[in-house]
Amino acid sequence: MEQELMRIGVSLPDNLLTRFDGIIKKRGYSSRSEGIRDAIRNYIVDYEWMGEEEGDRVAVITIIYNHHQRGLNDELLEIQHSSIGLLGTSFHVHLDHDNCLEVLLARGNMRDIKQITEDIMALKGVKHVKLTTTSKTLD
Ligand code: NI
Repeated sequence: MEQELMRIGVSLPDNLLTRFDGIIKKRGYSSRSEGIRDAIRNYIVDYEWMGEEEGDRVAVITIIYNHHQRGLNDELLEIQHSSIGLLGTSFHVHLDHDNCLEVLLARGNMRDIKQITEDIMALKGVKHVKLTTTSKTLD
């Protein structure tokens, strides 16, 4: 059965929309709406994947954030210091005038890794967070 389409209004920064429009044009989408529907589906799949992952994992959390955001550096450090058992190694790259890249290596229970990832995603000034995982034991 055909789903009823709901209409929503979304406010976006100009440059984000311009880049999004560029991508959907290159990919040959018939409309902006179709591109947004696909992006939302991917967001849901990604979230559900995180929910299904469990057990001991080795994970890499990649974060891009605006280092001008007041208090954000401290909050990121606080998260790392309060998760010493889980987070061991990190490295930092100053990408440009505004942006920093931080990569955290985590080892431990997926539930805890997910919690840290979501805590970081929720921080104001964090632009992008990517979680990738692998199994500790590959046999
Ligand atoms: Ni930096």
